[in-house]
Amino acid sequence: MDYRSTTERSIRDPEGFWLEAAEAIDWDVAPTAAVDASNAPLYRWFADGMLNTCYNALDRHVIAGRGDTTALIYDSPVVGAKKSYTYSALLEKVAQFAGVLADAGVSVGDRVVIYMPMMPQAVVAMLACARLGAVHSVVFGGFAAKELAARLDDAEPSVIVTASGGIEPSRVVEYLPTIVTALELSRGTVRTVIVKDRPEVPGSARELEGAAGVDWWDWDEAAGAATPHDPVPVRATDPLYILYTSGTTGAPKGVVRDNGGHAVAMAWSMRNIYDVHPGDVMWTASDVGWVVGHSYIVYGPLIAGATTVLYEGKPVGTPDAGAFWRVVSDYRVKVLFTAPTALRAIRKVDPHAALADQYDLGSLDALFLAGERLDPETWTWATALLDKPVVDHWWQTETGWAICASPRGIEELPLRAGSPSFPVPGFQVEIVDEHGHQQHPLTEGNIVIRLPLPPGTLSTLWRGDDRYVHSYLSAFPGFYLTGDSGYFDREGYLYVMGRTDDIINVAGHRLSTGSMEQVLAQHPAVAECAVIGVADQLKGQKPVGYVVLKSGSTPVESELAAELVAMVRDQIGAVAAFRDVVVVSALPKTRSGKILRKTMRQIVDGEDYVIPPTIEDTQAIQVIVDSMARG
Ligand code: COA
Ligand code: AMP
Repeated sequence: MDYRSTTERSIRDPEGFWLEAAEAIDWDVAPTAAVDASNAPLYRWFADGMLNTCYNALDRHVIAGRGDTTALIYDSPVVGAKKSYTYSALLEKVAQFAGVLADAGVSVGDRVVIYMPMMPQAVVAMLACARLGAVHSVVFGGFAAKELAARLDDAEPSVIVTASGGIEPSRVVEYLPTIVTALELSRGTVRTVIVKDRPEVPGSARELEGAAGVDWWDWDEAAGAATPHDPVPVRATDPLYILYTSGTTGAPKGVVRDNGGHAVAMAWSMRNIYDVHPGDVMWTASDVGWVVGHSYIVYGPLIAGATTVLYEGKPVGTPDAGAFWRVVSDYRVKVLFTAPTALRAIRKVDPHAALADQYDLGSLDALFLAGERLDPETWTWATALLDKPVVDHWWQTETGWAICASPRGIEELPLRAGSPSFPVPGFQVEIVDEHGHQQHPLTEGNIVIRLPLPPGTLSTLWRGDDRYVHSYLSAFPGFYLTGDSGYFDREGYLYVMGRTDDIINVAGHRLSTGSMEQVLAQHPAVAECAVIGVADQLKGQKPVGYVVLKSGSTPVESELAAELVAMVRDQIGAVAAFRDVVVVSALPKTRSGKILRKTMRQIVDGEDYVIPPTIEDTQAIQVIVDSMARG
């Protein structure tokens, strides 16, 4: 079937379409129905089915006689390690660690927070939770203690799994002091912290005995004493994981992914979008702390019976801008998936990709990019370099897999610079204006998706059905609001132009400007502030803070800036990459007090802008223009 007929079938007969897709999964109890609309607008998938996600990712491949196939390749230029795990070996480690979690009292539905760098134990911990029917919540290592504490308070885990730390090119990041501070800041549901000791980073479970009122277990000792645990069947609708993502307010949103719909979507997307099959090698150069890592470092490739690469390093500097090409050639990678920022970083250092000539990239079928807008220059550069399809695809933490893509496993569609191509079968994407009226081609508007969303997309927000409905489903009844704006061209290609809210995307990392503003506002000299995401050649966007001082406050500007930068780093984390502060005498606002952040961003980015008629004081626009002139 081609793209058009597959899409038509997914719309005409979603029950038949998705029940057929569900046959790619091994069920303990096979579902008899696909979508359950009894609680609309909250939909559930495969509601009477039962399965275990870990069984589908590991056991069934071993049972099918593929135990000797490589499941996971770990490559870490930062610690100088390379290691492969067969499906049998990975299963053994996961079953053993599931035994450790069971010894710590974890069972079906319990939450486990995982705060780990890109090491194999992070994957083991995620799959071990899935094996027990427990719910993992992975927190990216670049977040500071306060952000971690906010997630502990919301998810209420009984166990944290961590490591002594991670290695960034410029420094060693010690995790254990962050864990202790987060435990002290949080409400205290955690009973046990399990620590994988890394020789490269100081700190261990033993040294922390008694700290923060919890038990500290050493990973290896606990694994030595544990009995391997069998997979526990759960309902398809039971949560597999919670993944926190930035909302428009400071409070992160806990996106809930179910077991059944997720497994089906992963299996379907591996074949039909990425064209990756058992034995193929897929390398997703992201982090397990992000949705891209959940879906296509861990679950997608393993559910498909493919080989996944876990790379602990950067695109440049570990050791050079040839690192990506080395990994592709060393492991015969068929599909590489990364963020546009990574390519821009490589291009900046090695504009003609001279380092790529040293490696054999013949195994590569396609490069997939997502996480932020793919600018046409980078697309053109990568296409010329690789002479292979460079596939932009658009998705979000909430959807868990691509909303728009060129589904290579179905049909090779012509690609267009600047567009993530067409809606993936299962997603009915429309563009509407602020009144919900459908827009004509080439007219920009809100990108919305008709309900129900396909399997594998968020089922709700953690303990937040109302927040889910309020944030995503109430603006345009019957549709999911993506928060992105864009348009279709006449041939149906989608163009995603940017967010309609206060979320920014820095180096493919989704951040809330609202949470940065909350931090800046705490400074005693700051009367009011606005953080906006301005265009950045490398990272796509970078946050810049505009602050108005309290009257009578006369701090030295450079000292104030350093204090504010340190506060954001301390309270949100290094990942916020907040480095720029501009002191201004006023912020442009509407008469109702809403700061005109979009207009500010347009001024700073040199775009055309319209001064809204509701502006309180037009002079404030000049203030921003003048601040640009000051550099
Ligand atoms: N743990 C701790 N700190 C981390 C971290 C982690 N896992 N990841 C990033 N950081 C830190 C960095 O060390 C840096 O700290 P610094 O201010 O002390 O230098 C800070 O967070 C900002 O990081 P980043 O924005 O990534 O910038 P960078 O200059 O270190 O690296 C790139 C630039 C382009 C190499 C890097 O951003 C990159 O590889 N991007 C790819 C994006 C990606 O994979 N996104 C995933 C979504 S698909
Ligand atoms: P995240 O939830 O971190 O995956 O971020 C999702 C957001 O990143 C989307 O809502 C978009 O704003 C942006 N994004 C992701 N992929 C793309 C893409 N291919 N093109 C444009 N924007 C993208």
